[in-house]
Amino acid sequence: MPGKTQNIYVCSNCDAQFSKWSGRCLECGSWGTLKMETRKQEEVDYRLGGKAQEKKVSQAEIIDLEKIKEDGLARIKTNISELDRVLGGGIVPGSLVLLSGEPGIGKSTIVAQLADAIGASHGDVIYLSGEESAAQIKARLVRLKCNLEKIKFVSETNVEKAIAAVSSLKPGLVIVDSIQAVYSHDVPTEAGGLSQIRAAAVKFLELAKENNIAVILVGHITKDGQIAGPKSLEHIVDTVIYLEAETTNNYRVLRATKNRFGSVNELGIFEMTGSGFKEVVNPGAVFIETGEQKITGSVISCVIEGTRPFLVEIQALVTKTVFGYPQRKSSGFDLNRLQVLASVLTKRAKVNLINQDIILNVVGGLRINDPGLDLAVCLAITSSLLNQVIDRKTIVLGEVGLGGEVRNVSKLEQRLAEAEKLGFVKAIVPDCQARAKKLKLVKIKNLEEMVGRIAHIA
Ligand code: TYD
Ligand code: MG
Repeated sequence: MPGKTQNIYVCSNCDAQFSKWSGRCLECGSWGTLKMETRKQEEVDYRLGGKAQEKKVSQAEIIDLEKIKEDGLARIKTNISELDRVLGGGIVPGSLVLLSGEPGIGKSTIVAQLADAIGASHGDVIYLSGEESAAQIKARLVRLKCNLEKIKFVSETNVEKAIAAVSSLKPGLVIVDSIQAVYSHDVPTEAGGLSQIRAAAVKFLELAKENNIAVILVGHITKDGQIAGPKSLEHIVDTVIYLEAETTNNYRVLRATKNRFGSVNELGIFEMTGSGFKEVVNPGAVFIETGEQKITGSVISCVIEGTRPFLVEIQALVTKTVFGYPQRKSSGFDLNRLQVLASVLTKRAKVNLINQDIILNVVGGLRINDPGLDLAVCLAITSSLLNQVIDRKTIVLGEVGLGGEVRNVSKLEQRLAEAEKLGFVKAIVPDCQARAKKLKLVKIKNLEEMVGRIAHIA
């Protein structure tokens, strides 16, 4: 007798399963993607989390970790120092790396340069592209003055065929540009859909682990993160790196958000030039405008990202609220933190912000989460409100507590040394033991003191 069957509804975009039809998939939100499928009863019970069938299984092996040989994670150095820094010292063979970024940001450029660097020292590199033709890729590689000998090109959108080609050559590195353009014939939907992206990534994961080949997947994201494709891969891959633009000039920031083989706080800074990316080895001042303009509400501070100090510029614009509830807007700085600081300024330093709108911006598009910026934010707000210009050769560092007290920040001396190196002359710092060689230190105990002495500080 044939087993009982049941109809279920499967989303063709994200593979979610439902027992009832609806016009919109409740998982991914796409419309009209639920299709009816007939499945065996036991399979449905199992997939929908119902009474799972107990089956005879063989026992999994229990491994004694003490007896496992440690492998010292041999890394492939890319010789692009900013990239190595972000990857934690180089690419680990057999790892799967996801490189995401907006279209046009330079993902193809950076992987081309990487292919050249690796190909020169670590055997063949396969560049797999479903988006661009061999001629286009060659034109880019030639423009970037890459050595074409070690870089092989595969123009294929079918994952299975591409993987078969890769397995026959056994290269050191495979670059997939982009994961949105490939499809697996195991999944019936078109390329670029969530289930396709995931299926393809899993196939590349198997390829990487079985053959000990490093694989880099390139994934596009849009500005508002609408196309969540690459996001859904983050748990599958070993390392996730983002390439982001810095708004005012040609700098690009590379940051890791997940790394199974290293830390995630290091930033890599590149400059886009006519012949590809150049590393910026001393990036201390790339995020601030060096100029003599005198603007109120603009204050310079210093953050530590990973192990390196970067100077950042905080801009605040404080204007009278015209209608209703005062607005607080922030870009690059935590909005909740801004609200807290505005309340502390109002309560502890008698800076009346109750009927003022505040707009805060970290210049250059960096997103920062460093409490050492608190004092700079408070000073920028006060400077804008009181129309008091703060000198651009002054650096401001300090964390602010709820009592309005200014606290010490981590690695203060390292930050001061960087400012000194870049020609700053004055530093506003917490009242602590800090010393500096050339900088004039102005020590501040609390916000009230900061506001009271603002003319002197400026
Ligand atoms: P690309 O790497 O194709 O971006 P993505 O793959 O992320 O979509 O290139 C992005 C831009 O970089 C492109 O508009 C042209 C520019 N570019 C340069 O300025 N210099 C160069 O040497 C190259 C190769 C590209
Ligand atoms: Mg591209």
